[in-house]
Amino acid sequence: MASLLNRVQSLPKGFIWGGATAAYQVEGATKVDGKGKTMWDDYLQAQGRFSPDPASDFYHRYPEDIALSKKYGLNAIRLSIAWTRIFPKGYGEPVQAGVDYYHRLFKECLDNGITPYVSLHHFDSPKTLFDDGDWLNRKNIDYFVDYAKFCFDEFKEVKNWFTINELISLAFSQYIQGNFPPNHHFDVTSAIQAQHNELLAHARVVNLFKDGGYDGRIGLIHVLQPVYPYPVTPENQHAADLDDAFMNAFLLDGTFKGEYTPKTMKLINEILDANDAHLDIQLGDMDILKKASTRNDFFGLNYYQPSFFAAYDGDSTNTFNGTGTKGTTSFKFKGVGQAVKNPDIPTTDWDWNIDPEGLYDILKRVSIEYPNIKEIFITENGLGMKEDLPEGVTDDTIIDDPKRIDFVDQHVAALLKARSEGVNVNGYFIWSLQDQFSWANGYNKRYGLFFVDFTNQKRYVKKSALWYKELADTMPK
Ligand code: BG6
Repeated sequence: MASLLNRVQSLPKGFIWGGATAAYQVEGATKVDGKGKTMWDDYLQAQGRFSPDPASDFYHRYPEDIALSKKYGLNAIRLSIAWTRIFPKGYGEPVQAGVDYYHRLFKECLDNGITPYVSLHHFDSPKTLFDDGDWLNRKNIDYFVDYAKFCFDEFKEVKNWFTINELISLAFSQYIQGNFPPNHHFDVTSAIQAQHNELLAHARVVNLFKDGGYDGRIGLIHVLQPVYPYPVTPENQHAADLDDAFMNAFLLDGTFKGEYTPKTMKLINEILDANDAHLDIQLGDMDILKKASTRNDFFGLNYYQPSFFAAYDGDSTNTFNGTGTKGTTSFKFKGVGQAVKNPDIPTTDWDWNIDPEGLYDILKRVSIEYPNIKEIFITENGLGMKEDLPEGVTDDTIIDDPKRIDFVDQHVAALLKARSEGVNVNGYFIWSLQDQFSWANGYNKRYGLFFVDFTNQKRYVKKSALWYKELADTMPK
């Protein structure tokens, strides 16, 4: 900690030190004030594992969470707008109550010196559009552009926008891993098409923002997962390259080069061929991507873990660890490779690799390979754990979470190292601000700086929040 404290003093004034949230994961209040259903509501109800209500009741308790953010030294917060609070079906007439809510929320942030960084889409597609194919239906892109324009015209107080959060996670979870609705497994055509269509939606919105001369900055968020061969052999290297193309390079190319480079497409085509899959790129699509590729003001980079890959020549199969029972994840992708465990790398209860070096590597890589990236923020990074309230808890109880402090300490150190070598990374948002439910895991996977007792919505401070404040206080103001 001592060395980290010294080193954060080298950060520029105004370095972003934030906490991240997503509307559906924190707001609750899914049935009030005219809100429409997302792709999750009926699905979660049918599944019966957990309910999106009351979540962290942020819809009502946002003043408390923003007050905590201020008290613990944060200067920014990542929020998302729930599309269905504004347009219940994704299109049509806006709902005033939803619009008013977000004006109140942004005002509360700004009045407290907390800059809102706002995403337009964070995994919560409107149910009506989802039923019509979600991102696989190109009409969805038009509706998204209309919704974005409405938000830019209405929420003038917001100066920092992200279009879409983690395009790959959505496509991968929906169509490859099968743990997000509509729960397809290894539907490679849909997964690659959804990525391309989401990129198009992003690019059209960026072009609209820039052509419209809106006052502010705009970008998008990708989660990057460096892929290493394990052990290092030429065959395993090729498997890692294939997985990297599917998980990282295709989207990075499309966003920041405005083309899918021949190197990436060779790998993608190998995957498509092996899976009898195809990608439909229509006339004019690449021009839209090209035009937007130099116009992103910043890049939100989410980082949790790298993966380790080995060659594999069987059929696709996977199991998903949605409970926090170690050792229950497996992933074998026909025509790509299989995820393997690297015994030198510790893992969480959800089998996520803990490897801060991966963050350093990926920051270096994107800054070299994608010169169109102007500025980077780490828009999510954090540790998901099972945590309980201790016996005899009082209002003043501080929840001890040394593993989270350690995790963030190591990852911030990796960020600083990359920065000292010239990578223009100017912010860090911990995932997450307060505890919130996890899409495919429910309420037992906690990431927050602030503990939420989901039975009564009381907030308790964790030691990581005290630690976070100590760093914030050390940074140049
Ligand atoms: C990111 C998402 O993929 O990872 C968040 O943007 C999500 O919404 C976070 O909660 C952590 O993932 P998980 O599955 O542990 O909740």
